[in-house]
Amino acid sequence: MTTHIPYLTARPAWKALESHSNAIRDVHLRTLFADDPKRGRRLTAEAAGLYLDYSKNRVTDETMGLLLELAKQSGLQDRIGAMFSGDKINITENRAVLHVALRAPRQTAIMVDGENVVDRVHAVLDKMADFSNRVRSGEWKGHTGRPIRNVVNIGIGGSDLGPVMAYEALKHYSDRSMNFRFVSNIDGTDVTETLRDLDPAETLFIVASKTFTTQETMTNAQTARDWLIKGLGGDNNAVARHFVAVSTNAAKVSEFGIDTANMFEFWDWVGGRYSLASAIGLSTMVAIGPEHFRGLLDGMRQMDQHFRTAAFEHNLPVLMGLLTVWYTNFFGAQTVAVLPYEQYLNRFPAYLQQLTMESNGKHVTLDGTAVDYQTGPVYWGEPGTNGQHSFYQLIHQGTRLIPCDFIAFGQSLNPVGQHHDILMANVFAQAEALAFGKTQAEVRAEGTPDWLVPHRVFGGNRPSTTILAERLTPEALGKLVALYEHSVFTQGVIWDIDSFDQWGVELGKQLANRILPELDTKNESGAGHDSSTNNLIRRYRQMKQTGGT
Ligand code: F6P
Repeated sequence: MTTHIPYLTARPAWKALESHSNAIRDVHLRTLFADDPKRGRRLTAEAAGLYLDYSKNRVTDETMGLLLELAKQSGLQDRIGAMFSGDKINITENRAVLHVALRAPRQTAIMVDGENVVDRVHAVLDKMADFSNRVRSGEWKGHTGRPIRNVVNIGIGGSDLGPVMAYEALKHYSDRSMNFRFVSNIDGTDVTETLRDLDPAETLFIVASKTFTTQETMTNAQTARDWLIKGLGGDNNAVARHFVAVSTNAAKVSEFGIDTANMFEFWDWVGGRYSLASAIGLSTMVAIGPEHFRGLLDGMRQMDQHFRTAAFEHNLPVLMGLLTVWYTNFFGAQTVAVLPYEQYLNRFPAYLQQLTMESNGKHVTLDGTAVDYQTGPVYWGEPGTNGQHSFYQLIHQGTRLIPCDFIAFGQSLNPVGQHHDILMANVFAQAEALAFGKTQAEVRAEGTPDWLVPHRVFGGNRPSTTILAERLTPEALGKLVALYEHSVFTQGVIWDIDSFDQWGVELGKQLANRILPELDTKNESGAGHDSSTNNLIRRYRQMKQTGGT
């Protein structure tokens, strides 16, 4: 039996949070810490080897109690259960949402339309492992008999960002005798620069696309195919040894000319931005090997298990999701900065942008009602310490409230000199400076002239959360990815939106397809748009002709 859940702003906990937020708005983190000397150890949670310090957030025990109550009144536990049991919770596409099945142990059963999908997951994982081993060992030969030294993943969105983020994050574990590259953008520069110094005889393309119809990926794959055939003396048969596909669409794969024996399957119940653990991770597996890839899955599984079973007050993704709701809806925060103090996580913020914003950038509830509250914030970030010498000024002294997630590791994978201590001193210092700032009196006491004092004051009271893990292993990365996936899920449940569709990307695709033939100067110039678009098209057509293209 499904219980009726009131509209978000009518839930009692929401109303209580509204009045509570007014009471707490002017309370400073300095006061909260001074009043409770144990706060820094108390407002923490730890699971699966990840330590979450949320004490530098503008919350009290009452806030957390109300947020947890909001999660209960939003039916979060039932919705978690529904996701894990394969219910079709992506209602606008009538699909189950089962990225958690991709990392379920072999003996588990998760049923979709009467079939245990875990068996299929492991069959594909085994096939990926076999293929990866053959490529890595040199047993898989290119068309001319040479082993593969370069792997190029062609995909976009979830078929690119997960693979490139994971490759970068786990480079330490990768086979350094091979090159891994990623082509995503339709801009011809991407594919050209990627291929310019590669030898086709030693290059393997992984065409990664859930639908196998995405314009960017199909165009890039075609260009890569032409490059390969040309480079190998015009023999079309070369494609079989140099192209494999990752997709849900076998018909389109074979139409492209890739033997479906060289296709690695996944399913419509895996969303693009949730697909890293599926065959979309093939390039990662070739880079780091099947054992390490299983480590990644194992880390995800541990976080899945924690999310599913831990009480909400100790549940890391639930706590993180609720804090995001708190700032988005009660403090008017528009963004979240994700700041990994780990160079290998340099693409993690970009990866999270799709995960969070394609999921929760929604304007209607599940039943189609327009929301009158804010939903998904803008996620952004850069690895530390680079951001400190760029945009941190605004986070410290600007007029906006920007909650920050700091991510750091106890041990460096490259322990050189004092680098790691300096890195860690900086991450701790940033969170401390944001929370406590520097008062007028403190600035004056340093001998600062009166006129300069206001410029040098730090208001503080700027919230941050710190996530600490021991070391960046494949397992730790898996935990981090699943932590954010489930935090996004928690937010989506509170906001009562479909976090698993992405209709917002469709209109631009349709219009681009309409404009494309109008850019061909052999055709009549289209004039059916607004005056700005018509004019831009006209200008572009003129520029093309002057450029002789
Ligand atoms: O356009 C958005 C999107 O559908 C993403 O959700 C997806 O990750 C990306 O395009 C790529 O899609 P595909 O894997 O089907 O090529």
